[in-house]
Amino acid sequence: MFHSLTRKWFFVGTPALLLIVLSGTFFLFRGLPTPASAHNAPAPTTLGAAAALKGRTFGAAMTSNVLSDTQYSNVLSTEFTGTTPGNEMKWDTTEPTRNTFNFAPADAIVSFAQSHHMTVRGHTLVWHSQLAGWVSSITTGSDLLQAMKNHIAGEAGHFKGKVVSWDVVNEAFNEDGTRRASPFEQLIGDNYIAEAFKATHVADPHALLCYNDYNIEGINAKSDAVYAMVKDFKAHGVPIGCVGFQSHFIVGQLPTDIQANLQRFAQLGVTVQITELDIRMPVPASSADLQQQATDYKNVVAACLAVARCNNITTWGVYDGDSWIPQFFPGYGAALLFDENFQKKPAYNAVFQTLIGHK
Ligand code: G3I
Repeated sequence: MFHSLTRKWFFVGTPALLLIVLSGTFFLFRGLPTPASAHNAPAPTTLGAAAALKGRTFGAAMTSNVLSDTQYSNVLSTEFTGTTPGNEMKWDTTEPTRNTFNFAPADAIVSFAQSHHMTVRGHTLVWHSQLAGWVSSITTGSDLLQAMKNHIAGEAGHFKGKVVSWDVVNEAFNEDGTRRASPFEQLIGDNYIAEAFKATHVADPHALLCYNDYNIEGINAKSDAVYAMVKDFKAHGVPIGCVGFQSHFIVGQLPTDIQANLQRFAQLGVTVQITELDIRMPVPASSADLQQQATDYKNVVAACLAVARCNNITTWGVYDGDSWIPQFFPGYGAALLFDENFQKKPAYNAVFQTLIGHK
């Protein structure tokens, strides 16, 4: 009897034990958070902690001039687990004169992030906007290609190991899916994008390399063009690892196929990220718009959670007092999760509840 029980345990128990050991090993090797129930972790109370339970980073863009604002830096470091420099890693700041680099403002952000255990998305190496003035005096493709590669080597080399990802190329497409006539496109041609990814990979082989753009969150002519480029890059060994969907939305006007679109990109074998999320509305904000904004934010977060390869959601700023919207869209604002007084908005609660799995 004892013998047969032991044998039974051996046959039933051994696979069970193996399963337990293997699943523990799986979590260890993947670096994934173990389920909360496994170690009785306290319930999350912040966006970052809630997102971590789902294996995601929840970030916010920041600028170096707010580091002295203690209320701002407290909310940022408490609620968010990632950050993106809003302007400090752009070409006009980092290489204002050819081959003379200035990383001080971005270094301040990286060091703030490191001291608060936050990851950093590098933004951005090649973009037609906030480009140093000297670049426009270049007249040949070969010279511009050389300048671009030197810029990437200098900047991505400086931040090697300190950023988890790079927006290597930003906003290279028009709404109809044609290429934007940036200086890079005009002098070097379509190939500048692949060249930029290759150069970044050489400078920082472990960083996740992203193409980042706006109005590509739903399925449309622009996202189709980006999709075709990513597919082509994957087929030809160009080291693209990710697509960033900026997600600058207007309240009540989000595409309904965000999840399907993220999924089709993920199926190409790239990570997908929500990189600059904000949802603007006419100000002063009405309570109906604030409720609709909560629904809209919830839908974006739910779309990301539904796609396994969507691992980062970043809002473009921390609070409504620190947003690009009022300057660029007069009459609009209130686009973020915290209001002008750092109070949590309905959208904050909707995002939090969605992250922890409640409606
Ligand atoms: O640096 C000057 C300063 O010297 C001057 O006193 C001040 C006066 O307005 O302007 C400062 O420059 C501003 C710059 O941000 C740095 O603060 C510009 O006016 C302002 O237009 C610029 O705006 C940035 C914008 O990109 C430019 O395109 C926003 O802060 C930044 O949030 C925004 O971010 C972009 C992403 O990089 C890409 N996707 C879209 C997103 C929103 O536009």
